[in-house]
Amino acid sequence: MSTRKLRHTVVVISRDDALALDAADPIAHFRDRFHIPDPAVVYLDGNSLGMPPKRTLERLTEVYQHDWATGLIRSWEHWVDLPQRVGDQLAPLIGASPGEVVLHDNTTLCVYQAVHAALGLNDANANANATGTGNGSRPVIAISADDFPTDRYVVDGIAAATGRTVRHGFDRLDDVAVVVRSVIDYRTAELVDVAAETARAHAAGAVVVWDLSHAVGAIDIDLRACGVQLAVGCSYKYLNGGPGAPAWSYVASELHAVVRQPIWGWFATERQFEMGATFEPRPDIARMLLGTPSILALTAAEVGIALSAEAGMPAIHAKGTALTTLAIDLCDQYGLATPTPRDPARRGNHVAVQHPNAKAIVRELAARDVIFDFREPNIVRAGCSPLTTRFVDVFDGLSAVARLAAG
Ligand SMILES: Cc1ncc(COP(=O)(O)O)c(C=O)c1O
Repeated sequence: MSTRKLRHTVVVISRDDALALDAADPIAHFRDRFHIPDPAVVYLDGNSLGMPPKRTLERLTEVYQHDWATGLIRSWEHWVDLPQRVGDQLAPLIGASPGEVVLHDNTTLCVYQAVHAALGLNDANANANATGTGNGSRPVIAISADDFPTDRYVVDGIAAATGRTVRHGFDRLDDVAVVVRSVIDYRTAELVDVAAETARAHAAGAVVVWDLSHAVGAIDIDLRACGVQLAVGCSYKYLNGGPGAPAWSYVASELHAVVRQPIWGWFATERQFEMGATFEPRPDIARMLLGTPSILALTAAEVGIALSAEAGMPAIHAKGTALTTLAIDLCDQYGLATPTPRDPARRGNHVAVQHPNAKAIVRELAARDVIFDFREPNIVRAGCSPLTTRFVDVFDGLSAVARLAAG
């Protein structure tokens, strides 16, 4: 669908057009698998917090009653490797192999570990390679000034603690140890060419940490084909894992033996229950773990991930593109400004609308059960979550924004 100008006739997108798109949507039925107390609510914020799958409540009750209440401590026998098992379920959604992904803690912590791991890899590369700085340590960590705050803060903190400087931007990489980048810009939805940018950084001698928080469960990405070594992301957005759902770390399998992370917890050690005198990192992805995992949170995340796996990333990505195309066409129809790329190959699953009164518009609409995100300084962010967002939600939401934007 697009707003077509045919000679002098402007084809206007109507609410019925959006309803027709819903009727033709091959994955529309997935919405029935979610608990939606009020279907009249227009929810365009699944990219901040995904909706709750119905099965989540059942699974949590099962684990509560069967595993916890009845099994008690004995249930740790099958709980103990749940972070890796759920990681194996997530792996195909991002083009990873089994054994390359583990769910744990939150994205902030995963970024912290991954950046340290990347610095260690870069040191090792520099020591083994005459193109290094000679002392085995490059002085710069590069990140965009527009990246999500937690990534920037963590990088600032690591740079301060390790005596490095932070450079905003990626033009110059020859002295960069580590590049930290989001695959999809949390404000504009711009999608980076992950394969090309990974190759460019590697050619310059830098190690890259990718943050897939806005990409996982949204776009069909193949980390292995893109040559990605280290990546992190969350599971509470498009994966519908629940509030505070565990994040995940991806480490390419060929690095498992050498990658080092800075927090030496007992879940990451060999022969964990021998309670040994010293830490010996496990030989696999579990070396990214820290301490006792949250079993209930992992249980909820597992259900959300399973739904995305069932629908399949190609179908999810295709619907995401169709939803954002409709949103951009509606922006054009209503004269709303958007910095979101028009090329579907260059964008993720949200659309940003710029308006000087964005904050007030988002607040006012939330009071009417039309839910967007506001992002500084002037963005109304419309998240299109393919498993739950209807085309008519996009139509109703953008139409409501347009009415308020017109004053
Ligand atoms: C790119 C990115 N990284 C990290 C986070 C959040 O980190 P955490 O899960 O630790 O709160 C977000 C949250 O929206 C994000 O968009």
